Amino acid sequence: MEYKEFAKYYDIFYKNKNYAMETEFLKNFINQDDEIIDIGCGTGLHASLLQQDGFKVDGLDFNKEMLDIAKGRVSSNLYLQNILDININKKYDVIISMFAVLNHLKDTRELEKALMNMKNILADKGKIIIDLHNPQNSGSKTDSYDNMTRTMEWNYDKTTKIEESKIIFKIDGKKYLDSHTFRIFTIDEVKESCQNVGLVVKEVYENYDINKCGLPISKNLQFLICKA
Ligand SMILES: C[S@@+](CC[C@H](N)C(=O)[O-])C[C@H]1O[C@@H](n2cnc3c(N)ncnc32)[C@H](O)[C@@H]1O
Repeated sequence: MEYKEFAKYYDIFYKNKNYAMETEFLKNFINQDDEIIDIGCGTGLHASLLQQDGFKVDGLDFNKEMLDIAKGRVSSNLYLQNILDININKKYDVIISMFAVLNHLKDTRELEKALMNMKNILADKGKIIIDLHNPQNSGSKTDSYDNMTRTMEWNYDKTTKIEESKIIFKIDGKKYLDSHTFRIFTIDEVKESCQNVGLVVKEVYENYDINKCGLPISKNLQFLICKA
């Protein structure tokens, strides 16, 4: 299922994802007056939590259905644009991109294009925080909560650095299938891509923990990136 069809179920399927904790992590990098943009904002869950705390947050996503849901909770500029083709005439102090958005890109060439586009809307002393998926191997798991069962199967090919995943959600007895092809970027690839576009990786965090840096073993890694 592409996000287009998936949008209306997105918040239900990910309702156990700890957006509040992730947003607390992000707040370590944000000053109260900063202009923020959430790239690949989806349904606007991080943006709305930040907005509730008084921060100014715009959003960007290329999926209209996701953005329509975000519009219901974020009262700021929401741009229907592709990361590979950003056209915004404004500079941001903080750019966030949460939950594997950049893993949707095909290769390091696209990653560099996306990073360059982010750099173009980044204020001189600005910060970029990207949250990337970091699988270690293939696997499967099933979990249940409320009236929903979720079965995930993922297959990570270390040679191609491609992860194919399939998620079957059963909600009130009805079945929905979500599937993703993720390009997994290594820390070295992210560092090199940043360097190629005049950015620099300052820190690598795992699992939204400000104290735990640089151990590439978690399933989510966060990169703090600045202009070189
Ligand atoms: C896993 S969702 C994450 C959404 C949100 N950041 C969150 O944490 O809930 C990935 C989002 O990235 C968006 N996306 C993927 N590729 C994109 C691209 N090239 N340009 C803009 N948005 C993109 C999708 O439409 C989707 O909303």
